[in-house]
Amino acid sequence: MELNKEEILHYEKNYRANLINSVSGFKSANLIGTVSSKGNTNLAIFSSVIHVGANPPLIGLLMRPVSVPRHTYLNIKETSQFTINHVNSSIYKNAHLTSARFNEEESEFTKCGLTEEYLNDFKAPFVKESKIKMSVKFIEENEIKANSTILIIGEIQSIYLPDNIIEDDGSLNIEKADTAAISGLYSYHKTTLIEKLAYAKAF
Ligand SMILES: Cc1cc2nc3c(=O)[nH]c(=O)nc-3n(C[C@H](O)[C@H](O)[C@H](O)COP(=O)(O)O)c2cc1C
Repeated sequence: MELNKEEILHYEKNYRANLINSVSGFKSANLIGTVSSKGNTNLAIFSSVIHVGANPPLIGLLMRPVSVPRHTYLNIKETSQFTINHVNSSIYKNAHLTSARFNEEESEFTKCGLTEEYLNDFKAPFVKESKIKMSVKFIEENEIKANSTILIIGEIQSIYLPDNIIEDDGSLNIEKADTAAISGLYSYHKTTLIEKLAYAKAF
């Protein structure tokens, strides 16, 4: 079976969105925690968190176009802070609900049954139920001209994690922390490691 661009462009909007959101493969499942300058907290699920660089420790996320108010974006611009919290198999349903359109004054924490947590004077809220989480300082934004999405780049300030998941080489055993993965816009997965390999050298 082949689906070519002409066909894809003729599909019904939601059908096309589901197809194209699935085709990039498994994605990370994270909750982005923010607070407005007025003190309203916000939480939103994102599947677009990516590694940007290790030195300095940079992480990115892709924001949908801000043609409608996006509280996560507005709060990041107001306070220059956000938290990234891994979704696990105990909270994926609550996490998914955060994608609903709530008013600015309504906090997804209360609406979706997740608990705000504050660590080391960082103003943005963490998710207490999440096992791996980090505080991030906003560094820059880059508009993707092709579709007006915005790539937000942040610098990791602190990582909070269970003691027993960090391996001798520094990598995290995120499966041990029950971190979930996303495919498309509606599917949440548990993962199974195939094998951890060594650094590949040319041969
Ligand atoms: C599984 C899933 C993944 C999502 N990933 C993203 C994403 O990577 N970027 C984005 O801008 N919105 C993403 N969304 C949509 C946001 O969660 C949604 O727009 C949310 O309402 C934003 O909330 P806010 O207005 O409080 O910022 C995703 C939604 C779902 C269900």
